[in-house]
Amino acid sequence: MRLRPFLDELEKSGKLVRVKREVSHEYELANVMNALGERPAIFENVRGFDMPVFGGIASDRGIIAKGLGTGREGILKKLMGALRDPVEPEVVSKGACQEVVTKDVDLDRLPILKHLPGDGGRYTSASIAVIKDPDTGRNMSYHRMMQIGKDRLTARLIPKRQARTTYDKTDGDLEVAICIGSSIPVLLAASLGPPSGVDELSIANALDETPLVKCITKDLEVPADTEIVLEGRITKELGPEGPFVDLTETRDFERQEPVVVIDAITMRKDAMYQALLPGRLEHKTLMGMPKEPTICNEVSKVAKCRNAYVTMGGGSWLHAVVQIDKQSEEDGKRAIDAAFRGHKSLKHVWVVDKDVDIYNPLAVEWAVATRFQAGKGLVVRENQPGSSLDPSAIHEPGKKALTDKMGLDATKRLGIDPKKYKKVSYGKVILGEYLER
Ligand SMILES: Cc1cc2nc3c(=O)[nH]c(=O)nc-3n(C[C@H](O)[C@H](O)[C@H](O)COP(=O)(O)O)c2cc1C
Repeated sequence: MRLRPFLDELEKSGKLVRVKREVSHEYELANVMNALGERPAIFENVRGFDMPVFGGIASDRGIIAKGLGTGREGILKKLMGALRDPVEPEVVSKGACQEVVTKDVDLDRLPILKHLPGDGGRYTSASIAVIKDPDTGRNMSYHRMMQIGKDRLTARLIPKRQARTTYDKTDGDLEVAICIGSSIPVLLAASLGPPSGVDELSIANALDETPLVKCITKDLEVPADTEIVLEGRITKELGPEGPFVDLTETRDFERQEPVVVIDAITMRKDAMYQALLPGRLEHKTLMGMPKEPTICNEVSKVAKCRNAYVTMGGGSWLHAVVQIDKQSEEDGKRAIDAAFRGHKSLKHVWVVDKDVDIYNPLAVEWAVATRFQAGKGLVVRENQPGSSLDPSAIHEPGKKALTDKMGLDATKRLGIDPKKYKKVSYGKVILGEYLER
């Protein structure tokens, strides 16, 4: 679903709050978003700015599912389908994101947030960069950007990711279009890391129709309905980026990163700025969820994979629950190793049967309590390459972090009377009839 109708629908169903009281873009807005538990919100009155700020639309799986026109359990199928069959989007001649065009760039006119004391500066965090690589084509990915001047920012370009690879091999400036204010399909597609050459905008379009429009000053295309687009160049000049909060909720240090110069800003007449709290729910959900299709794809090679969930408790990065339809006794253990192949940073994984609700930690623990035997179902892999985010791993400069990995096969043993494992349920009653006076 497009962003504006989606926000309307959230409001009609009582899921979106409007904050009318004046708030400061410096700390206060981020604090209120956090206090709201990141539920979808529109801040109508941001001190010193005409433009409202919205956020929180991807903080909850139920809400993301709504934005994809499915239920919570349907998200994985949708992502796997779009990854398998991307659809080239139509390029239209007019887009709402170009109703207002400014070449006299002043980023101070945008309510770019300062999130926390100790941050290096004002940061865009829901900023999605579109670039073109001469060999592999269009790419779309998130890059946090720190404002360092009226028309410039420094962008965090993590090594080996597509935007960095393209930047490193480009002589001179690399054109970029930075989209702020995006629909759920675009937010999800940008968080995926498909094989090089697969266009994330075609993935967004496969999730739901996402027409594009050509940029005014750059040879790039962006979703026509984006709220705000910063058209610019990633230059070879470096500048300070950081400190800023990362996925672990701890502060990433200051680095020298590429300077992005903005040449034009295009936006809707009534544009809204999108905020995303670093290290909190929305950031975590958007990082972990894209690993679920890759885990499921690998597990499907060795067993019947029904679902996968990268859990919040594991920082949305280190832990997963995999649900299988068990056919043979070795399926559980095979699924554990396959899950590690599907997400290289995964540290602990639980494999459960199809009757266990993988989104409910109590249900997963129940499966471990009633179906797991450590002597038979425990898999330990020592000294494996792991995540740089895990403080308990062994970290040596210039080397991949080393960690022990563990998988628990908490599936029922085959050949044992299934009744033994089944949870009982009490009969249904109409409670009102018993409580009436
Ligand atoms: C909220 C959010 C913020 C992110 N910030 C950055 C960032 O600042 N720099 C970066 O290189 N990757 C960042 N990422 C990760 C990239 O978007 C992700 O690695 C990308 O999807 C990989 O795709 P690619 O291989 O096509 O570049 C972020 C992801 C999310 C969900």
